[in-house]
Amino acid sequence: MSSTEIKKIGVLTSGGDGPGMNAGIRSVVRSALSEGLEVAGIIRGYQGLIDDDVIPMNHRSVANIINRGGTILKTARSEEFKTDEGQKKALATLKKHNIDALVVIGGDGSYRGARDLLQKYNFPVVALPGTIDNDLCGTDQTIGCHTAVHTALEAIDKIRDTVHSMERIFVIEVMGNHSGYIAMEVAVGSGAEELLVPERPFDYEKICAKIKKGHESGKISWMIVTAEGAAKAPEVAEAIGTRTGFETRFVVLGHIQRGGVPLAPDRILATRLGAAAVDLLVKGESGKAVGVVKRQINVVPLTVACEKQNSLLEEYYRLIEVLT
Ligand code: F6P
Repeated sequence: MSSTEIKKIGVLTSGGDGPGMNAGIRSVVRSALSEGLEVAGIIRGYQGLIDDDVIPMNHRSVANIINRGGTILKTARSEEFKTDEGQKKALATLKKHNIDALVVIGGDGSYRGARDLLQKYNFPVVALPGTIDNDLCGTDQTIGCHTAVHTALEAIDKIRDTVHSMERIFVIEVMGNHSGYIAMEVAVGSGAEELLVPERPFDYEKICAKIKKGHESGKISWMIVTAEGAAKAPEVAEAIGTRTGFETRFVVLGHIQRGGVPLAPDRILATRLGAAAVDLLVKGESGKAVGVVKRQINVVPLTVACEKQNSLLEEYYRLIEVLT
């Protein structure tokens, strides 16, 4: 579809919400309006397309949201959209509202949905990485990750007081789905002694031998950060407590990491990427995912915006080894 044919775009957020999504919506809406396009907001992501839950959006619809967590458009994980039937209903809604192109803000599942719209139905779509997990390729950072890591660190700073005062081992589980990125950042940022991630095998015997050795030389407390995709906190606490005989507690940080006021890096990233997405559509380009690499806007085909390899992992493990 050429740029001249795009008169109206739709915007949706999909999958897990993340801090900064609202800044992304605001940027998409206002950038599109400034190009003379009409904008429709789709409520609850792909499910809203299936259910025909679509609202008109204007300049004021996105006022006072740049600093708000969550997403004003709501979000969902739609099983129905994974079916041909669901996708056809979604297309009928797009057609009914004369939406010519779609901007999707979401994580890997949302990217797969966008890819289906493009590949199976040739529908113009551009995606922005809206997920706390930082697990998409084509971008150094995803919208929400900075804030999620910061929120986890604030919580762990509080837990640290108890860890040290009561001379305990604490296992802290963080989110990340199949990626250890959040855990890696949180472990280094909190000064944790151990990091468990799905990308690297670990051995309870070795971890416990290290703890016992540390104890012999006077160490009194430990923090172990586990990514939810590596091992669940209760399981890790049980394994470590039984083997060492030391009092071991666990905390699952859970959804606290997804909420709250977005930090500056997430607001700014989302704002830049929202505008970049609209730019692409106006230029007649679609089927792309936008991100940043070395702080510059980076565009990759949606078909390759897949799972990211975590290139920092070995460096971070070395840091933990040396500094704790
Ligand atoms: O993708 C973001 C994320 O928060 C993951 O880190 C986590 O595994 C998942 O979403 C949790 O999803 P839900 O809120 O649907 O339980």
